[in-house]
Amino acid sequence: MGIIRKFRQFFADIDESSIVSLGEGDTPMIFAPKVAGEIGFCGQLYFKYEGANPTGSFKDRGMTTAVSKSMGEESVEGFVCASTGNTGAAAAAYGAEARAPVWVLVPAGGIAEGKRVQILAYGAKIIEINGNFDACQDIVRRINGECSGIVVLNNTHPYRLPGQRTAAFEILDELGRAPDYHFIPVGNAGNITAYWMGYKEYSAYWSGCDISARMAKWGRRTPEGVRKLPRMMGYQAEGAAPIVRGYAIGNPKTIASAINIGNPARWKEAEEAVLESEGRFDMVSDEEIMRFHGLIAKLCPQAACEPSSAVSVAGLAKAIWRQEIENNEDTVVVCTLTGAWWKDQDVFKGKSRRRTKAVDPDFGIVVKLLK
Ligand code: F0G
Repeated sequence: MGIIRKFRQFFADIDESSIVSLGEGDTPMIFAPKVAGEIGFCGQLYFKYEGANPTGSFKDRGMTTAVSKSMGEESVEGFVCASTGNTGAAAAAYGAEARAPVWVLVPAGGIAEGKRVQILAYGAKIIEINGNFDACQDIVRRINGECSGIVVLNNTHPYRLPGQRTAAFEILDELGRAPDYHFIPVGNAGNITAYWMGYKEYSAYWSGCDISARMAKWGRRTPEGVRKLPRMMGYQAEGAAPIVRGYAIGNPKTIASAINIGNPARWKEAEEAVLESEGRFDMVSDEEIMRFHGLIAKLCPQAACEPSSAVSVAGLAKAIWRQEIENNEDTVVVCTLTGAWWKDQDVFKGKSRRRTKAVDPDFGIVVKLLK
């Protein structure tokens, strides 16, 4: 169905005839008691698994709305975006569906090979820039002002975040209430902004509906569950943590290449989301990211994700260990897992080669290995 049709009343200004959808959204909420146990969390832990979207990341939610709106309104000659990989893959796929050319500016050597291949497979063109993501974004900002007919699909497009906010709608629908805490990785700072927007809007919408509509939708959980809002907990990688440190990073560096960003476009809005929700920003090290990347895959294989996504769970663990959040049986936490594990296989390569060894095609040798 896709998120525009699923939440039709929230996208009244997008024409049915211009909808470009690949069936995004409706991603699973995965209950993760084993991971909770491992980090000493006593409450209920859910993963919002955005890797289940058509191109394998949350970006599809914002891309269906941005591309649909643009196709309906403008004479589009092409789409362009700056990306660490996932925005580019989503732009390439939705652009292909809309039959429009797509160019993706990426930091040369700075994105996972899986995403590079994916962008090319959908038929988009990659322009590699000898610089980091922020340099790509600076160029794209100028394209936005100076090249008419070329639509920029970064999170500054006015319809990106409204699409991404539907993940919060789905969480409220699924839980029948807001979580107490929402943990999320922060890179260009659009997604945390979108979730906060989504929690506030959906809860205001249902609070404003008449009692019979509310009862039909929310049953006994009305009205407390409808009105509650979560604390937004945004986590960056230590080497790319401009918001946590309070200044732009000229040369960001983290193994989580998707969030290797030194000067996020939605910095201010993300800060407002955290402030307003009484949440917090913090950072986690690459070692912690890789530890939780491995742990999620082993303890909850259906939620295996890319390293940047594991930042949310590494953040939760840090908050638990430092006793920064409530940790009771009835505490509800949602961690967004932003992208699927197959997106970024670069980080496995060294490790997986060391773990396997070729042997002769001999029954005896193989049986010995089973012991
Ligand atoms: N997780 C993944 C897997 C991402 O690809 C991104 C951002 C984020 C988290 C951070 O979300 O930017 O909204 O704060 N990726 C962008 C890209 C920058 O180009 O794909 P954010």
